[in-house]
Amino acid sequence: MRILSGIQPSGTLHLGNYFGMMQPAIALQEKGEAFYFIADYHSMTSLFDADQRRKNTLDVALDFLACGLDPKKSVFFRQSDLPEHTELAWILSTLTPMSLLEKCHSFKDKSAKGIPVNHGLFAYPVLMAADILLYDSNIVPVGRDQKQHVEVTRDIAIKFNEQYGPTFVIPEPKIREEVAVVPGTDGQKMSKSYGNTIEIFGEEKAIRKKIMGIKMDSRLPEEPKPDADKNLAIQLLKLVAPAEVAADFENRLRAGGLGYGDLKKGLFEHYWNHFAEARKKRAELAANLDYVNSVLADGATKARTLAQKVLKRARKASGLE
Ligand code: ADP
Ligand code: TRP
Repeated sequence: MRILSGIQPSGTLHLGNYFGMMQPAIALQEKGEAFYFIADYHSMTSLFDADQRRKNTLDVALDFLACGLDPKKSVFFRQSDLPEHTELAWILSTLTPMSLLEKCHSFKDKSAKGIPVNHGLFAYPVLMAADILLYDSNIVPVGRDQKQHVEVTRDIAIKFNEQYGPTFVIPEPKIREEVAVVPGTDGQKMSKSYGNTIEIFGEEKAIRKKIMGIKMDSRLPEEPKPDADKNLAIQLLKLVAPAEVAADFENRLRAGGLGYGDLKKGLFEHYWNHFAEARKKRAELAANLDYVNSVLADGATKARTLAQKVLKRARKASGLE
């Protein structure tokens, strides 16, 4: 079984990225042949600062390795080290109906908000299809917001196979329902575009402030709260604390007697402990950037062997060779 996923270096990674995509991806590296990459070509559709892209790319590499991506088990690489991705994207784009892309939320949402959209953003799902199809991927672990893109990938692959003969493996998205949408500090989906994130490796004081600033209702501590499971701090606590600890907080909130301040303090402490080991590992990696760069270089070499094989198959099938 081949597993593949990517993450854009477009900002600082947060708990939504971690629980929605990184943690499932890391767990899956035990289950098959895993390919994970930093989608720096994709980040060009929305980030236009070259230095920032370089910095974010390194940060994603550090974050992912610190969180448990193991280069002995997974192939970890930077997308733009393999121009094969862009070549395949062109080939696929010639079989992609405009109407399919017009339906994609990545483009539609930004366009509806009046953000000027470039062609890259419109064609973004085609590049993502190339990323996935280039490695004969069976499974794509992502958060729910990426499901549509995997469906577009399937449509394009099926169309190509019908037009030019069996060439591509049809992939499946893999979405863990319990973390499909991690809420942010305002209750909406956690996203760097909403300014409601809790970073994985945030600075202690800043994150404490964000967590203590989560808005709660005005019910008194002693009041029972039958809707305790809907409480935002409880939902986040369930992600970062052991199950029995989160259940205890939830029961105390439901019964009455637990104040929101104490609940949020508990959430901060469990968040901080949850990533303690990863934080230490990240500091070690940051002091050894030669190692990090060598992991990516090595990953690119391994990825290229497979990417070139599949690209050749597509070139032959479509009459380019
Ligand atoms: P953002 O919304 O912050 O821009 P991205 O779109 O870069 O995040 O997402 C990278 C990966 O993390 C994707 O697989 C996406 O589905 C997942 N992800 C992002 N935010 C969340 C969230 N709040 N809940 C679950 N998964 C998420
Ligand atoms: N579009 C994805 C995101 O924003 C990142 C991505 C690019 C990706 N290519 C991919 C994810 C291929 C899975 C498979 O999160």
